[in-house]
Amino acid sequence: MGELDGRTALVTGGSRGIGRAVALRLARDGALVAVHYGGDAEAAAKTVAMIGEAGGRAFAVQAAFGSGGAVDVLFEGLAAGLADHGAEGLDILVNNAGVHSAASIGQLTEAELERVLAVNLSTPIFVIQRALPLLRDGGRIVNVGSAATRIANHLQIAYTVSKAALAALGSSLANDLGRRGITVNTVEPGVVRTDMTAGWTGSAEALAGLASITALGRIGEPEDVADVVGFLAGPQGRWVTGQILDASGGTWLGPIVHG
Ligand SMILES: NC(=O)c1ccc[n+]([C@@H]2O[C@H](COP(=O)([O-])OP(=O)(O)OC[C@H]3O[C@@H](n4cnc5c(N)ncnc54)[C@H](OP(=O)(O)O)[C@@H]3O)[C@@H](O)[C@H]2O)c1
Repeated sequence: MGELDGRTALVTGGSRGIGRAVALRLARDGALVAVHYGGDAEAAAKTVAMIGEAGGRAFAVQAAFGSGGAVDVLFEGLAAGLADHGAEGLDILVNNAGVHSAASIGQLTEAELERVLAVNLSTPIFVIQRALPLLRDGGRIVNVGSAATRIANHLQIAYTVSKAALAALGSSLANDLGRRGITVNTVEPGVVRTDMTAGWTGSAEALAGLASITALGRIGEPEDVADVVGFLAGPQGRWVTGQILDASGGTWLGPIVHG
C-alpha cells in the first residue's frame, strides 16, 4: 500500500525535469498522476511510460500556458483523463511548469515580462482557482518557486519577480484554505540539473562554480526536489502550510569556510 493510494494528482510541467521526478514520486506513492505538458508530447509520453513501467498510473494532458484558453484546455483534459481511469476530483496540485528568462533590467522587453509572468504566475493562479472546486478537503497545493528570490541576481529580473510573487501567493492562500485541511506551500530549488539549466551546467568548470556556492557541495538533481514535494504532498506533510521551503542544498547561505 502506498501513502497516496486512491489519491489523484496534477503535476504541471510533468513532462520533463523536476516535474517528471515529482510525477514519478507521487505515482510511486500510489497516486494517479495527470502529467501536464506544454508542447513536448514525446517527453510527456515518456513520463507516463516510466510511471507505467514502475507499476504506477498516469496519463498526459496538454495545455500551452500563455496561450488563450489554456486553463480551460487543461481542465477539460484533466476531467477526461480522470474519467478514463474511473477517477474524479483532485487531491494534489503541483504548480511546477515554468520558464526562465536571463534578461537584465536593461534587456527586458514587455513581451518577455508578459511571457514569464503568464507561465510562472498568472496561469498557476487560475489553475488553482479552477482546481479548488475539484480539490477534496485535506488536499495539497505545492508551488515550485526558486531560491533565486533570496539571491540578488540582476540577470534574471522577470524570472525572480515571477517566483517571488508565486511564493507570496502561497502564504496568502494558506489561511483561506486551511479550514478545509488544504495546505499550500512553496518549494524553492537552487540550480537543478534539467533542460532549463543545461546551458550553465555543461562544462566541468561551470558545474564546479555552481557547486561551490552550495553548503552540500553539488548542484541538485530533480529527485532532490521531488522528495521535498512528495513530503509536502503526502500525509507526513499535513502540519506544514503557508511556508516557503528552500530545497537548494544550502545555496548561498553565506561564506563557505572549510577547515
Ligand atoms: N532547474 C532549475 O535549476 C530550477 C531552479 C529553481 C526553480 N526551478 C523551477 O522548477 C520548475 C521546473 O523546472 P525544470 O528545470 O524542470 O524545467 P524544464 O526542464 O525546462 O521543464 C519545464 C517544464 O515546464 C513545461 N512548460 C514550459 N513552458 C510551458 C508553457 N508555456 N506551457 C505549458 N508548460 C510549459 C514544460 O513542458 P514541455 O515539456 O511540453 O515543454 C516542461 O514540462 C520551473 O518552475 C522552474 O522555474 C528550476
